Amino acid sequence: MHLIYFTLLLFLCTQTNYAATDTIFAGQALSVNDKLVSNNGRYALGFFNTSSSKPSRDTTNWYLGIWFNTVPKFTSAWVPNRDRPIKNTTSLELTISHDGNLVILNQSTKSIIWSTQANITRNSTTAMLLSRGNLILTDSSNSSEILWESFDHPTDTLFPGAKLGWDKLTGLNRRLVSWKNLNDPATGVYCEMSGNNPPFTSNFVHNDQEKYMTLTVVDESMVTRNVLDVSGRSKQFVWSEGSQDWTMVYAQPKLQCDVYAICGPFTICYDNAVPYCSCMEGFTITSPKYWQLEDTTGGCSRNTQLDCISNKSTTHTTDKFYSVPCVKLPQNAPKVEAVASP
Ligand SMILES: *[C@@H]1O[C@H](CO)[C@@H](O)[C@H](O)[C@H]1NC(C)=O
Ligand SMILES: *[C@@H]1O[C@H](CO)[C@@H](O)[C@H](O)[C@H]1NC(C)=O
Ligand SMILES: *[C@@H]1O[C@H](CO)[C@@H](O)[C@H](O)[C@H]1NC(C)=O
Ligand SMILES: *[C@@H]1O[C@H](CO)[C@@H](O)[C@H](O)[C@H]1NC(C)=O
Ligand SMILES: *[C@@H]1O[C@H](CO)[C@@H](O)[C@H](O)[C@H]1NC(C)=O
Ligand SMILES: *[C@@H]1O[C@H](CO)[C@@H](O)[C@H](O)[C@H]1NC(C)=O
Ligand SMILES: *[C@@H]1O[C@H](CO)[C@@H](O)[C@H](O)[C@H]1NC(C)=O
Repeated sequence: MHLIYFTLLLFLCTQTNYAATDTIFAGQALSVNDKLVSNNGRYALGFFNTSSSKPSRDTTNWYLGIWFNTVPKFTSAWVPNRDRPIKNTTSLELTISHDGNLVILNQSTKSIIWSTQANITRNSTTAMLLSRGNLILTDSSNSSEILWESFDHPTDTLFPGAKLGWDKLTGLNRRLVSWKNLNDPATGVYCEMSGNNPPFTSNFVHNDQEKYMTLTVVDESMVTRNVLDVSGRSKQFVWSEGSQDWTMVYAQPKLQCDVYAICGPFTICYDNAVPYCSCMEGFTITSPKYWQLEDTTGGCSRNTQLDCISNKSTTHTTDKFYSVPCVKLPQNAPKVEAVASP
């Protein structure tokens, strides 16, 4: 009998510990080890960290995020504090502040690290993670009254049903901006607005109030991911249970080297090579660390300074032009009218 009680008790405890919720009510808080899970189980909201792939003395950065809860390979889809990483998780929580906004708070100092910054005139508000991956802040007494939503502030990922584009009345411009590198969600160099997406699954709307596109999902059972990745390409992936990885089903531009300035200065981009960026003769990768994390935009640097710069006293320098055959010039390449070797 005791054993049965014990087992039942254990079962109930386990149930309470793991019972996921999708809502934060006023007065509640999500701690660094908690998460919200959408009603369908597909998305989770919580804190995650990034640290360099190799153990080093680099500090760990913490972020609030929404990720794919059913996908074993951690993949974030929304990061509100992308440019303001949290270094120390002591007293960290996500809660509803006195002004009704959802905030990342330092509970011990009461300082606000991030806020939804909505203009709220309601008495009480509630935050909820919806099954589509939208985090919404609503009036507690009327959940249809949406005061703020994460779909209006995308990071690098477009959720099906979310708008990408412009609200002409409020001036709100929803666009995707790539991560800085594979390990850093900070604002990267590539951004995307409507027009670049798979035509077979997208809708385009243009009227007096709005101009935007949305993605629709053909098969709800498929876990899909639409992202503007570090390499500046808009890609659509489907999660494959078989390979336990994301399978790319679409990319725009089709060729990597068509992405503007992807390899940075003094480089040549080869579409059929891995890695696709390489330095020109006489140049070396400026930042091998970032290059490894797929941020190649820093390009390459000169191994030896030009003689005409280092030695102004001479009229006759050793500098010469080096010919690079079979390449297409970059976009906006400056035209030099009269070039002659010394
Ligand atoms: C960062 O997250 C990983 C995966 O959840 C975890 O194993 C690791 O302990 C975390 N790092 C720190 C410093 O807490
Ligand atoms: C975080 O802050 C607490 C309190 O100030 C401190 O004890 C702890 O060592 C810090 N942790 C890290 C990783 O810096
Ligand atoms: C909160 O403030 C305390 C005291 O200044 C500090 O030790 C801790 O690291 C802070 N935590 C966060 C998440 O900012
Ligand atoms: C906030 O809302 C109030 C009431 O609707 C309005 O008067 C005020 O201008 C708004 N402030 C901003 C910054 O939008
Ligand atoms: C909020 O609503 C409650 C219940 O309706 C009411 O008692 C309270 O006075 C309200 N507070 C404010 C600041 O309006
Ligand atoms: C709830 O909010 C919606 C959207 O603003 C509004 O249309 C509806 O009338 C509200 N319902 C109540 C009971 O106030
Ligand atoms: C600069 O050029 C002069 C004349 O060719 C040469 O004698 C001198 O060594 C050069 N200096 C450097 C720093 O290269």
